[in-house]
Amino acid sequence: MKLGLGLGAITISVCMAAAQVDCPNYTIYAQTPKGNPSSGPLGLPYMRPEPACRTFNSTSVEKVISDMKARLKDPDIARLFENTFPNTLDTTVKYFNKEENLAFIITGDITAQWLRDTGNQFAHYRSLLSMDQELATLVKAVINNEARYVSEYPYCGAFQPPPESNLPPSHNDWADGVVVNPPVNNQTVFECKYEVDSLCGFIKLSTSYYQATKDASMMNDNWFFAIEQVFRVMNEQSQPSYDSNFNFVSYYNWTGLPGSLPGMVVNGGNGEPKGFTGMVGTSHRPSDDLSVYAFLTPANAMLSVELNNLATILDDAKLAPDVSARAKQWSQRIKQGIHEYGVFNDVFAYETNGLGSRYMMDDANVPSLLSLPYLGFLDRNDAAYIKTKKMLMSRQNPYYAKGLNFSGIGGPHIDAWHPWPMSQITNIFGSDDDDEILESLYTVANNTAGLGLIHESVNIYNGSDYTRPWFAWANSYFGEMILDLAQRKPHLILHDNEPYVPGQ
Ligand SMILES: *[C@@H]1O[C@H](CO)[C@@H](O)[C@H](O)[C@H]1NC(C)=O
Ligand SMILES: *[C@@H]1O[C@H](CO)[C@@H](O)[C@H](O)[C@H]1NC(C)=O
Ligand SMILES: *[C@@H]1O[C@H](CO)[C@@H](O)[C@H](O)[C@H]1NC(C)=O
Ligand SMILES: *[C@@H]1O[C@H](CO)[C@@H](O)[C@H](O)[C@H]1NC(C)=O
Ligand SMILES: *[C@@H]1O[C@H](CO)[C@@H](O)[C@H](O)[C@H]1NC(C)=O
Ligand SMILES: *[C@@H]1O[C@H](CO)[C@@H](O)[C@H](O)[C@H]1NC(C)=O
Ligand SMILES: *[C@@H]1O[C@H](CO)[C@@H](O)[C@H](O)[C@H]1NC(C)=O
Repeated sequence: MKLGLGLGAITISVCMAAAQVDCPNYTIYAQTPKGNPSSGPLGLPYMRPEPACRTFNSTSVEKVISDMKARLKDPDIARLFENTFPNTLDTTVKYFNKEENLAFIITGDITAQWLRDTGNQFAHYRSLLSMDQELATLVKAVINNEARYVSEYPYCGAFQPPPESNLPPSHNDWADGVVVNPPVNNQTVFECKYEVDSLCGFIKLSTSYYQATKDASMMNDNWFFAIEQVFRVMNEQSQPSYDSNFNFVSYYNWTGLPGSLPGMVVNGGNGEPKGFTGMVGTSHRPSDDLSVYAFLTPANAMLSVELNNLATILDDAKLAPDVSARAKQWSQRIKQGIHEYGVFNDVFAYETNGLGSRYMMDDANVPSLLSLPYLGFLDRNDAAYIKTKKMLMSRQNPYYAKGLNFSGIGGPHIDAWHPWPMSQITNIFGSDDDDEILESLYTVANNTAGLGLIHESVNIYNGSDYTRPWFAWANSYFGEMILDLAQRKPHLILHDNEPYVPGQ
């Protein structure tokens, strides 16, 4: 079986290698301006790779770009959209084999596939899946590859290429000297930090694929097995640290040995002890940083929403009523847990331990508290959200910062004075206020270091000082936000007040 599959893979990878033989390294390419500058005051460069170097071609994506370029009133925003919207397809499809139903999608400047990132890297193409069969087939192949990863390693979030691709695994310095239980194979796993939102990313990609295509063939045995592993992890990680006899309960632990880059984690790699809340605990945050307290409110909000979506697609496809019923129960229990343990004086806490302690803050990485409306957990006019958002975009949030050049929410992943453009994009999804939306939009647009792509973080004192030249999720998220505004607030960004929806 391996030989048969391998032969197909060799043909494909040879094709791609031949086509891309002279293609520049996009991490380097993205660090200097290319092409003619846009005609607005920002004069942003054209950063798409040469057609021959693009990793996937889609006529429906090209159509959205040309439609939007004709309708966006600010040529700088149009250029940003043109660069960012296709970035996932232009640069990150490292392997795709239709017959094998496998695709490997990298995050950008790191050659590994993150479950969370892919859930977002394709989110802005959702409306195209019903009209673009090739694109839908690609997404289905991403889901199938992830079903394999999750089946084997449900506690891990970032993975190596499938063996069929014959692509070499990448070495991760940050995984050196790390002891993780259950143990992992580094030929399959790039990094095994347990982040409950990674599992949500897998479900999100699956449910949005089905909702757009109504193609239930994505839910194969592989996929159902992966979903069972998600339930297993939820069950294990919702349990308190101590049982009634004070036996310490641990299904997963992660710690660095002396001298390793990540360092040691307290309590045998388990972190801070937790109580019982009905929520599901997590070891690391969506930023890949360690959690302070296990119950991460926004990740649980996303889990509650995605479990409900999972039940909806199963019901629609008339499949696995038992799985659907469990998904609904868990979704409800988690939501109750959030309201009971995660809200204080009508303000959502970022993390709690279920024993009375809480951390009032936010981190830019989605799922974040600021993204609760984007996640579909609540309405942007929800009173507790409005109160929470006011706190998050102020000095009371330790990871909010504002300087002469840039402002927003960041996190300890880089440092407190490098907020992330992603947080301003999230703020737009969470706002109905035209002035606030434009302020956030131009805070992002003015701070691409003149490179016309969305970066990970930007120094509040110096817009030229940024991290990650090639970050596909952030680019996709910007494109998704512009499409959202084109539909929700056309007068703000389009020449006329006619909403734009791809394919309509
Ligand atoms: C691309 O360039 C970056 C930055 O120099 C480097 O770290 C990376 O290994 C290169 N990637 C490849 C595939 O050569
Ligand atoms: C995309 O199209 C260009 C021609 O416009 C071609 O050279 C390139 O190989 C195509 N890429 C893929 C992955 O098929
Ligand atoms: C996997 O782990 C082994 C043993 O620690 C190490 O020698 C090897 O370089 C690792 N491979 C990758 C791809 O990181
Ligand atoms: C770590 O997790 C494993 C299960 O994967 C468990 O058997 C072991 O007892 C845990 N170790 C600690 C120190 O909690
Ligand atoms: C963005 O830059 C323009 C100048 O090009 C300036 O007028 C505007 O106030 C800036 N907006 C923000 C939100 O920084
Ligand atoms: C930072 O902001 C100052 C004041 O608005 C401006 O003069 C300067 O050009 C900006 N620098 C960068 C690198 O964005
Ligand atoms: C701003 O950051 C850029 C890129 O890191 C650096 O070259 C430049 O010297 C910095 N400017 C100031 C005023 O620190």
